[in-house]
Amino acid sequence: MRVLIMGGDGYLGWPTAMDLADRGHDVCVIDNYLRRTIALQTRSEALMPQPDLTRRAEIFGSVFGKQVRVVIGDCASYATLQKVFEEFRPEAAVHYAEQPSAPYSMIGQDEARLTVTNNLNTTLNLAWAVMQHAPECRIIKLGTMGEYGTPNIDIEEGWIEIEHKGRKDTFLFPRQTGSLYHTTKIFDTDMLWFYVRTFGLAVTDLMQGPVYGLSTPQSDADQRLLPNFHYDDIFGTVVNRFLVQAVQGVPLTVYGKGGQVRGYLNINDTLQCIRLALENPADHGELRILNQFTETFSVTQLAERVQRVGEQMGLPVEIQRIENPRKEAEEHYYNPAHSGLLELGLEPHYLTDGVVASMLEQVLRHKDRIDEDKILPRVRWKT
Ligand SMILES: NC(=O)c1ccc[n+]([C@@H]2O[C@H](COP(=O)([O-])OP(=O)(O)OC[C@H]3O[C@@H](n4cnc5c(N)ncnc54)[C@H](O)[C@@H]3O)[C@@H](O)[C@H]2O)c1
Repeated sequence: MRVLIMGGDGYLGWPTAMDLADRGHDVCVIDNYLRRTIALQTRSEALMPQPDLTRRAEIFGSVFGKQVRVVIGDCASYATLQKVFEEFRPEAAVHYAEQPSAPYSMIGQDEARLTVTNNLNTTLNLAWAVMQHAPECRIIKLGTMGEYGTPNIDIEEGWIEIEHKGRKDTFLFPRQTGSLYHTTKIFDTDMLWFYVRTFGLAVTDLMQGPVYGLSTPQSDADQRLLPNFHYDDIFGTVVNRFLVQAVQGVPLTVYGKGGQVRGYLNINDTLQCIRLALENPADHGELRILNQFTETFSVTQLAERVQRVGEQMGLPVEIQRIENPRKEAEEHYYNPAHSGLLELGLEPHYLTDGVVASMLEQVLRHKDRIDEDKILPRVRWKT
């Protein structure tokens, strides 16, 4: 299949490109290095150095003998995206090209505007490029479990049937998020639903939880092919921050009470889910929504897991509660459905002690590059 990966330099985009190319798909990646630019501007650089995208594709080609086509360009520019569609004629497009940091989106007006403009334009341009240049192309869009927030009812997979005054209808599940970034993901879903029901696009929207891990069959072959690993308060996920704090010998900082529960998944399961979405595409006129995570943890449970494994490896690990910089429920009900991908054949890789240990070993190899000042929260949006 000809697969276009938008955001192909990213944490998920690059491993996806390698995985699909290694399996024989014809893969083209497009990226404008927005994440690298923002990381430099906010002093949030990744722990391990990453060759640029063209160089990564060369290294991948020399190790695996497979080609990944590279376009350096902005998907928020319709002229650029149209050109890629005209030349590559994708049969499927995986859309990762967004500004994905919640704290970044909450810094100020400039960052808020960039997040809204970038994320909505890339999605809008994709819908139009498909309609005008590749009407058969299937869209796989990365949404986030954060779109749903933490409601006091069970979370369904995308849709809910509502009975009101004796009549029934099916609607998108109510969504209420905790950051502007997550709000742009809701806008994306609503925009795609509009184009699906009005113009018959075929879209799978994957409501993904936070992803962890660096090891994939391709990245294990050469360290220069590793995905980005950020550990700062802007781009670093809670798992990455805890791993780095454990290695650095500073306390793991739990925001608030630590009862914030989210659904997590291994990066290898993201790759599986993308393959499953490609192999089981939505029909034209269908918005298929799948909740993409394999297990849930509270922040405290994650901290305790890293502490336990760290101590087994001889690292002294303390846990410290600090004031929560975010406005979010610190204790809440959380019961999201996630059977759709399992029914399609997802075989989960769980967060075992062995997986935590292997991530700690990766970080230990780059301990000398850790900048402790990057880890503590610099952005606050709690009023
Ligand atoms: N990583 C996670 O844990 C996670 C969880 C849920 C959802 N998601 C979603 O998955 C997607 C990818 O996340 P990620 O962690 O790989 O983020 P990332 O920042 O590492 O990757 C996104 C890539 O898109 C590129 N990009 C952004 N805007 C672009 C534009 N206008 N034109 C071209 N390229 C552009 C960036 O430069 C970056 O390389 C995002 O949409 C994010 O919302 C990620």
